[in-house]
Amino acid sequence: MSFVYMKILESRPERYDLGMSLLTLGTLTKIKRQIAEHVHSGNQVLDLGCGTGTLAQMCIERGAVVTGVDANSGMLAVAKRNSPSANYLNISLGNLDEHLGDESFDIILSTLAFSELTRAERIHVLKQIKRILKNGGKVLIGDEIIPENILAKCLYYAFRLPMRLLTWVITQTTTNAISNFDDDVREAGMEIVHRKSFMLGMFILLEIKK
Ligand SMILES: C[S@@+](CC[C@H](N)C(=O)[O-])C[C@H]1O[C@@H](n2cnc3c(N)ncnc32)[C@H](O)[C@@H]1O
Repeated sequence: MSFVYMKILESRPERYDLGMSLLTLGTLTKIKRQIAEHVHSGNQVLDLGCGTGTLAQMCIERGAVVTGVDANSGMLAVAKRNSPSANYLNISLGNLDEHLGDESFDIILSTLAFSELTRAERIHVLKQIKRILKNGGKVLIGDEIIPENILAKCLYYAFRLPMRLLTWVITQTTTNAISNFDDDVREAGMEIVHRKSFMLGMFILLEIKK
């Protein structure tokens, strides 16, 4: 199983949701539903790397006011159809400081976007999250990590390396499954208060507070 394929799917936004649902055997949808359960009516929610807006729509259905951020205008075009009442910012996650004010969101969430960033970018974005999040607010991040279990790790590398090469040939980009997210969160001055693993530890859902 390899999620580097998601880079290929991102270049086909119309097929992204179906492709990711098949690729993750429904796990991505499950993680999004669990994230949405944290959202309450009236919450100001920020979705970083919102893609096609499926999580934004789940949060809107729970009564939240949602802002989605994404650098890929093709993904945002699909998001505007899937979740037309969300607000969207077509910017890089590296530029949040220029667009979003201090303590302006109750909940900041992100699925499968941090694994597309370098470690330096991840720490920069986490520091921005700390600034933008209201006191007492929550951060929920679902993403791809390198599993710790030996069997899962072997399976992961056996499939991932050839897929990574193929994805690079097709898209000239790849993903960076995260190895030490705890250190990144600590370096940004926040703490992980709850964690859950999915698919032999290949995915995590983290709840983070500042
Ligand atoms: C794998 S998709 C995940 C989309 C959605 N969150 C989901 O789970 O279905 C990653 C998304 O993050 C966006 N992304 C990646 N790096 C980004 C960056 N530096 N700035 C803004 N968006 C970025 C991509 O454009 C893409 O839409």
